[in-house]
Amino acid sequence: MATKRILVVDDEHLIRWSLTQMLVDAGYQVDSAGSGAETREKFKEFHPHMILLDICLPDASGMDLLQQFKKENQDLAVIMITAHSHADSAVQALKLGAEDYIGKPFNLEDVLHSVQQVFEKCRLRDENAYYRRVLQKKFESDNLVGNCPKMIEVFKMIKVVADADDKTVLITGASGTGKELVARAIHLHSRRADEPFIEVNCAAIPESLLENELFGHERGAYTDASQRQKGIFELAKGGTVFLDELGDMPLGMQAKILKVIENKRYRRLGGGSDVVTDARIIAATNQNLPELVKQGKFRADLFYRINVMNIDLPRLSERKMDIPHLVNYFIDQFNHEYGRNIEEVDARTMSCLMKYDWPGNVRELRNTIERAMMLEEGRVLGSDHLIREITDCTEAAAEENVLGDEDVGANDCFVLGNFRLPKEGISLEEVEKELIKMSLNRWGGNQTKAAECLRMSRDTLRYRMKKYGLTGAGDDGKA
Ligand SMILES: Nc1ncnc2c1ncn2[C@@H]1O[C@H](COP(=O)(O)OP(=O)(O)OP(=O)(O)O)[C@@H](O)[C@H]1O
Ligand SMILES: [Mg+2]
Repeated sequence: MATKRILVVDDEHLIRWSLTQMLVDAGYQVDSAGSGAETREKFKEFHPHMILLDICLPDASGMDLLQQFKKENQDLAVIMITAHSHADSAVQALKLGAEDYIGKPFNLEDVLHSVQQVFEKCRLRDENAYYRRVLQKKFESDNLVGNCPKMIEVFKMIKVVADADDKTVLITGASGTGKELVARAIHLHSRRADEPFIEVNCAAIPESLLENELFGHERGAYTDASQRQKGIFELAKGGTVFLDELGDMPLGMQAKILKVIENKRYRRLGGGSDVVTDARIIAATNQNLPELVKQGKFRADLFYRINVMNIDLPRLSERKMDIPHLVNYFIDQFNHEYGRNIEEVDARTMSCLMKYDWPGNVRELRNTIERAMMLEEGRVLGSDHLIREITDCTEAAAEENVLGDEDVGANDCFVLGNFRLPKEGISLEEVEKELIKMSLNRWGGNQTKAAECLRMSRDTLRYRMKKYGLTGAGDDGKA
């Protein structure tokens, strides 16, 4: 680490000399000044990281200098040197941004201790700011890759929702579509960005522990509770609580969360009174909450409360035009992370990636690219390292000759799932049959949804399914 520079400012020669000797011995680079004018000059030339600044100088007030220097360099650390009779000024100096103050007469060891502590505090602060920036970069909506109209809508919603600071948000979408990423982006774009974002996976924590986790407990709340423990709502003060997998939250807890949303209050386990919270709730689920409400597994009142603002994320198969961007993004990311040097993806590989249905969505694509990159020895990512399901899907498609040719450009846009017009043409009935199959697959065999997606009535869909000999025309369950 570079040597830290300290400027010692005091009008008493002996004090300057003794402080300088002591700091030089401790390994710092030191310069000194005896007046306000000299201090200003040295500040410009010496670029100190820290100033030990006497509050009373013959031609200037240390307080004015402090304000001026802090304005010019926010990172500058200042320790004020004051006579004990100036205790009030010391407090004032701290308010103006000084890190510490030392009363005269002082003990040199105490000064060294204070200098070291202040540098350590600054280091931690810089480190924090750095990690916050890195995290922010990682989760900024710029890093939520997507160019298709549906994702552009999602980005717009993130902005709207981030600005509507105290509203609850429900993020829906299949597994791996980016719900957590969106939740973090909302937090980072909101005025709560500097406060904590705390995630709770409602499905992963047993019911008996979830309440404790969320609300904490008082000392003696149960046999092992020897200390009061803060819950997530308390830790996320001023920030965001992300309730992931909300659909799996037990009914009893749902009632308590409803109370938090409605009254901004909860009670610690074993607590006698309510605690007020100002944390914002963002929830996510890959389940169909209205369906769970119908089945009595999710409270209708909580659903309406939590669903004030909804962001619904598309499946990757609904936004295939984004695949090339995502692939390049992940290649860059893993090149960086693993020190690899993959430059591109060959045409066949890209074609496979475009044609596969991605049931695991972006997460599956990311894992696929990571695995392929681990195995690839050259600079071009080949299809040898893709799993069978992905390459088989391309071969099946080629046989059927319904899906695209091998000359698919990486940036070709497959707006309707995998469907492309083959060179030799195709009958419209065939197209209709394929679209019905696709929509049924997309909605897991749910005919009402599949029909809605194709803008036709359920009866029309069933009639056409029968006509094309597609199975399941008699029921509305899973295929
Ligand atoms: N639009 C996107 N751009 C870049 N990466 C994405 C995008 N969407 C998802 N990912 C990546 O895909 C993976 C899964 O994302 P995330 O965990 O947010 O999904 P999820 O919807 O919360 O999934 P689950 O329902 O399984 O919890 C992560 O590695 C994430 O970085
Ligand atoms: Mg998730």
